[in-house]
Amino acid sequence: MKISTNQATLVDWSGEFLAVGVPAGDHHGLLEALYSRFGDGLRRQLEVQNFSGKQSELVAFSLLDIAPQLLLLIGLGEAAHLDLNGLRQAAVKVAAACRGRSGRLGLQLPWETFSPQTATYAAAEAICLSYYNDQRFRSESDISARPDELILLGLTAEAIPNLMDVHSVCAGVNLARDLVNAPANSLTPDEMAKTAQCLAEDYGLELTVLDREKCAEKGMGAYLAVSQGSALNPCFIHLTYRPPGSASHRLCLVGKGLTFDSGGYNLKVGAAQIDMMKYDMGGSAAVLGAMRSLAELQPRGVEIHAIIAACENMINGRAIHPGDIVRASNGITIEINNTDAEGRLTLADALIYAGELNPDAIVDLATLTGACLIALGDEIAGLWSPNDTLAEGIRVAAERAGEGVWRMPLPASYREGLKSKLADLRNTGPRLGGSITAALFLKEFVSQDIPWAHLDIAGTVWTDKDRGIDPAGATGFGVRTLINWVLDQSDQIDA
Ligand code: BES
Ligand code: MN
Ligand code: ZN
Repeated sequence: MKISTNQATLVDWSGEFLAVGVPAGDHHGLLEALYSRFGDGLRRQLEVQNFSGKQSELVAFSLLDIAPQLLLLIGLGEAAHLDLNGLRQAAVKVAAACRGRSGRLGLQLPWETFSPQTATYAAAEAICLSYYNDQRFRSESDISARPDELILLGLTAEAIPNLMDVHSVCAGVNLARDLVNAPANSLTPDEMAKTAQCLAEDYGLELTVLDREKCAEKGMGAYLAVSQGSALNPCFIHLTYRPPGSASHRLCLVGKGLTFDSGGYNLKVGAAQIDMMKYDMGGSAAVLGAMRSLAELQPRGVEIHAIIAACENMINGRAIHPGDIVRASNGITIEINNTDAEGRLTLADALIYAGELNPDAIVDLATLTGACLIALGDEIAGLWSPNDTLAEGIRVAAERAGEGVWRMPLPASYREGLKSKLADLRNTGPRLGGSITAALFLKEFVSQDIPWAHLDIAGTVWTDKDRGIDPAGATGFGVRTLINWVLDQSDQIDA
């Protein structure tokens, strides 16, 4: 979908679709302007339909042979209460109403209520993301027509620089969605490495992939233990973006990359939804998606390292037994009292590896615990960090992205739950506060002087129902938060 701006407004835009956001009360006389353009019939129609501009109210008029062929009015609610998410929802409603036809969609929203740049990006992203439709696994693809051009009305091109960045952002989110939607027999650890390889070739990134032997040489006993019951090889992926010019900041993005999580001998049974566990690589998908976008956006001054310990958690005669004791690459020994708490084992070695790069910050994303779903539901990810500045930076980045994130505590007393009678640690604590002990487990593998944050995206990686911006299925959650956060780091260097 092409995106552009145009100085035309509802008074003179003559593409196939015209969509206008109308606040309750319509204090700017938008409707009067429309009546004088389209005639009093429109006024009567709106009266009949009782259109008041309340949030999400949508009316559509087919004008048949005069342009625009379709006029859409979308209610924005009270102007004083309109926030960026309200604007996104309005844009998505418009996008849905245009499904089934092609043409140019002219969209007029109160850009000036926000910074026009923020508002246009938000609306354009929301529309592009809402049209995501994964047809890769069907014999015959079933994609309905949609507008092929989005024109943001009432704006000059100069007012909105770099509008094409929206494409880079959406392509990153959609890459993450593609990876998460792909089933485990299609997206294997090898395929994940191939995706990283493609990104490296397309954007001139640096790539290192460590195979089982190389990981063994590095002593990654926790990660390799998880993969040892699978017929597929583990792939430890390290993808690096170096900025033009010099870099003064080094950032590590670590993603959980379980292409399938059966639970191991602590097999997922009953309500555990084993059939959904293809999405257990959502953290690494978000990291690769963000790398794709960032490689296009080319932020200055920041070096970005994506680190993914990809593998499957399966069962065979060589699989880990519950109770096995393994050693991570920093020497810490772990009693695996539950083979289904595998993500943290793979992340342990990935976080140690990241720490050895001496970064200024590490952010990890992981579909780590069902407990996080219970605590925060499927629209909000849990955020853990001992570092207030980093936590606030991630929170702000997520808020701007329209992605839900809530900071959670790291109480030292809960660490008791991770004590083992035999080893330095055990991999699971008590059932209560399960996502907190999981975060505390990860913390053990990050040196205290490296700012570190952990996002548990077990709930947000997937949506069962269509949410507008996120069609049902993989959400690509985390990509936009990561992009915003990295860009903020880059801007702080410039300033
Ligand atoms: N991948 C799961 C977490 C998960 C559960 C993600 C549901 C999305 C939806 C993780 O590996 C896991 O199995 N965690 C266990 C930990 C427990 C054994 C301490 C869990 O949450 O049940
Ligand atoms: Mn598991
Ligand atoms: Zn898992």
